Amino acid sequence: MIIAVDGPAASGKGTLSKRLARHLGYAHLDTGKIYRAVGQQVLLSGGDPSDPIAATRAARSLTPDALENPALTTDTVAAAASKVAAIDAVRAQLLTFQQDFAANPPNGLAGAVLDGRDIGTVVCPDAKIKLFVDANVEIRAERRYKELLDRGEEIIYSRVLQDLQDRDDRDKNRKVAPLRAAPEAFVLDTSVLNAEDAFRAALAFIESDHSDK
Ligand code: CDP
Repeated sequence: MIIAVDGPAASGKGTLSKRLARHLGYAHLDTGKIYRAVGQQVLLSGGDPSDPIAATRAARSLTPDALENPALTTDTVAAAASKVAAIDAVRAQLLTFQQDFAANPPNGLAGAVLDGRDIGTVVCPDAKIKLFVDANVEIRAERRYKELLDRGEEIIYSRVLQDLQDRDDRDKNRKVAPLRAAPEAFVLDTSVLNAEDAFRAALAFIESDHSDK
């Protein structure tokens, strides 16, 4: 059983995915972390995240422990992630790992929830359940701003908003695997839903979709 959850930055897809996975007893993969780890690796080696050679080299040498690095959460790393993510060879390199995780969830779990930008469209086009989580950009910026403040980062709201808009632009307009909802995805607009309501709505959809088939 595969649940694909896509959506733009800070839309609430991570929170929702974790919660669904916990509730259903499935594994969870935050695929954004993989792109963040590649972006961070390029920054650490002094390279340019938009450089296909540097980015592909970083993607090839990625190890699972790199995904656990707490430094992946910063906005600088997020911007680098969305630059490496626009490179075809980087995405191709990371595809098998994601598909393997979905097909064979760790610890023999019965299903997997993957969240990202292209899970329902490219990584797992046959996923039984596809969700697309969206929210208005100012609301997303407000959430990300609070998150970063809570982590002790020194930031200003207008910068967070600008970073999100730049990233949305790159993610939606890139040639390879652009951010978009699969036509059959269930769209959840979290501008008007809190985390609990989004979880309830997603679960109701999953349960109704199951009983239909
Ligand atoms: O946490 P947030 O929603 O801000 O971002 P993320 O999910 O950690 O993803 C960071 C960046 O990785 C995104 O802006 C995308 O450019 C890229 N990404 C992608 O291209 N495809 C995915 N499946 C996941 C992330």
